Amino acid sequence: MSDKNRVFIFDTTMRDGEQSPGASMSVEEKIQISRVFDEMGIDIIEAGFPISSPGDFEAVSAISKNLKNSIPCGLARAMRKDIDACYESLKFAPRFRIHTFISTSPVHMKHKLNMSNDQVLDAIKDSVTYAKKFTDDVEWSCEDGTRTDLDFMCKTVELAIKSGATTINIPDTVGYSIPDEFAKTITHLKNKVPNIDKAILSAHCHNDLGLAVANALAGLSAGVRQIECTINGIGERAGNAALEEIVMALKTRNDLMPFETGIKTELISKASKIVSNATGFPVQFNKAIVGKNAFAHESGIHQDGMLKNRETYEIMTPESVGVKKTSLVMGKHSGRHAFKDKLNDLGYGEVTDDVIQAAFGKFKVLADKKKHIYDEDIVALVDDSLIIDNKINAINLKSLKVFAGTGEPQKAEMTLDVFGDIKKTTQTGDGPVDAIFKCIKELYPHNVKLSLYQVHAVTEGTDAQATVSVKIEENDRTTVGQSADTDTLVASANAYLNALNKMLIKREKKAPSSNIQHQKVRGI
Ligand code: KIV
Ligand code: ZN
Repeated sequence: MSDKNRVFIFDTTMRDGEQSPGASMSVEEKIQISRVFDEMGIDIIEAGFPISSPGDFEAVSAISKNLKNSIPCGLARAMRKDIDACYESLKFAPRFRIHTFISTSPVHMKHKLNMSNDQVLDAIKDSVTYAKKFTDDVEWSCEDGTRTDLDFMCKTVELAIKSGATTINIPDTVGYSIPDEFAKTITHLKNKVPNIDKAILSAHCHNDLGLAVANALAGLSAGVRQIECTINGIGERAGNAALEEIVMALKTRNDLMPFETGIKTELISKASKIVSNATGFPVQFNKAIVGKNAFAHESGIHQDGMLKNRETYEIMTPESVGVKKTSLVMGKHSGRHAFKDKLNDLGYGEVTDDVIQAAFGKFKVLADKKKHIYDEDIVALVDDSLIIDNKINAINLKSLKVFAGTGEPQKAEMTLDVFGDIKKTTQTGDGPVDAIFKCIKELYPHNVKLSLYQVHAVTEGTDAQATVSVKIEENDRTTVGQSADTDTLVASANAYLNALNKMLIKREKKAPSSNIQHQKVRGI
């Protein structure tokens, strides 16, 4: 890689990203995030705006003490007190950057700053020169750059470089530009500013029109060599260019954009999660690169293609961004090929074609009704089909009466058909469900671990149909039983018996244990 093709990644998740309404992060969270960023090879980390709050000041100083590879940076308006605060918080780092900015567009200068062109030029000279006293590494930004008169922009950039800036950042502050126009601005600066070769040009694009990444990449083709971005694209209003999209676009389409970053892309998913957790901002399901569905396929045609060769529907591997594997999501569009593959994954590689056929039919019916099909649902369907294949249901509920309420311990009276023998018992328990499960244990002594009991209302109102799920474990075998009834307690008894009957069949057939212990049933 030649140096001229190296693109520096400047992350501003903890400064511009934190400016997203509601996205504030604690100092401790910022320290944790900065550790991941440092490890993933981000070149410059803008850790905050030190003058803006004691929390920002503290975060920038803590981060600047801890970074091993990345260069810490703080933001400052074109004011000496801002620059002093930057220095005071960054001074612990062996190398650091001060990033100072002022607006240059007519609308900002008139309404926000109430300053003339000349006053802005004076402020640039003073702020950059002052920052340069503290560090060689000074970045200067012309806020609202894309709505700035180009000739005036050239003057400001030339002056900032002359005063000592080594990075010149062109912000599309309001996300107004389009790629062609942004590239032309960069080309214009390269052609017209006499000392432009003394600084690295940078793009800082906002996403108001959904063009932040496209604009930043267009800037790259025109000569930008630093991109300012945030993880998950968080930032003011519609956010900033997303780091993960920039980096993966450069990696995936290196044939057309022959640039390199220093990012270890395998840490992208980890960075996305830690930022999402710290800010409380969920990542949209279909978000490029880091969305939950970015490597998930549901359509039968796509799943079939993926099982034959992943390149049919994937342009990058999930592993390359730190996602364990592609997921073939089981849903109404899934086909037999993916279903069979799923059964294999769940440990049912040996079941007969008849059982697969029966289970697949039931799966299609269920998928039409239910949004999320979990592995447990599929296990329950296959186990049901195994029961039918076996043509017996060893233990059946004949009758159940439950006495519940305040004052006395809850009591259940139960009659079961156990392998053809009618048996009856009464048990008390710590709640009605406990009493019911004790009756079953009394009438058919067995020793399994109850690892999940969950009730889910599938219809609304007080007459709602309840579905109960029960998961039991014995040695390395697991079964899931389900039952629906308007009486939750009857559904509970039947769900437990369903799981138990399946366990008896598994014992007898030595059917494989399902490898789903690590998953939780979240809905039925
Ligand atoms: O969007 C913007 O203009 C900024 C500057 C401070 C660089 O965030
Ligand atoms: Zn910004």
